Amino acid sequence: MLEYIPNQIWLKEYPIRYAGTRFNSRMAVIRLKSGGLMLHSPCEIDASTKAEIEALGKVEFIVAPGSYHYIHVPSAQAAFPEAETFICPGVERKMPELNFDWILGDRPDPRWEEDFEQVLVRGNRFIWEVAFNHISSRTLILVDVLENITDKTEGVNWLLKFWWKAVFRMWNNPKPAPEYQMGWKDKKAAANSLRRILDWDFERIILAHGDLVEENPKEVLVAAWKGVLGS
Ligand SMILES: [Fe+2]
Repeated sequence: MLEYIPNQIWLKEYPIRYAGTRFNSRMAVIRLKSGGLMLHSPCEIDASTKAEIEALGKVEFIVAPGSYHYIHVPSAQAAFPEAETFICPGVERKMPELNFDWILGDRPDPRWEEDFEQVLVRGNRFIWEVAFNHISSRTLILVDVLENITDKTEGVNWLLKFWWKAVFRMWNNPKPAPEYQMGWKDKKAAANSLRRILDWDFERIILAHGDLVEENPKEVLVAAWKGVLGS
């Protein structure tokens, strides 16, 4: 794992395949003020990853933050059976056999309210997620509502490149995942959610797919979301 924010946030990229495309996803491990750990959008937890995480502290929370980001939760639960599981709304329908403790919403759990602000991104037909702002490091943590696949991004196959360049025009051009772009049904609700995110204080963005955003994060988001926010 990469120690991204010293003593606070670690990242791990891992490969995924989806509809013939091949690209990477990213887990974040966050050490809370309590000392416990949150696994955000976990990857499959193999023995070496488990050992790396255990060396950082005790996993208290497993978070499936998006309606497409839950598949490895059972693996994380098996590795850390004492942790509580929080899911994005809708995951309970997509994976009915999944055991979980809580459904995420707009209010942080009291046990992490000093660590994070959070908001449910509403208004889409196909895809949802809960965005988190890590207050002390001023780091916005998203999954799919911003993707940033560029010439520098590793682990991308030809089919992903074709779709991103020729169809969705989001190669070197950060935008929400295609499911977001095709599915906005209530733009007012969506814009309200996105504006809440833009009101937060952050200086970088962790996202699931593509390069981290470390310069002008708000400008990047406003440009990416202009179809919803208006110009
Ligand atoms: Fe995703």
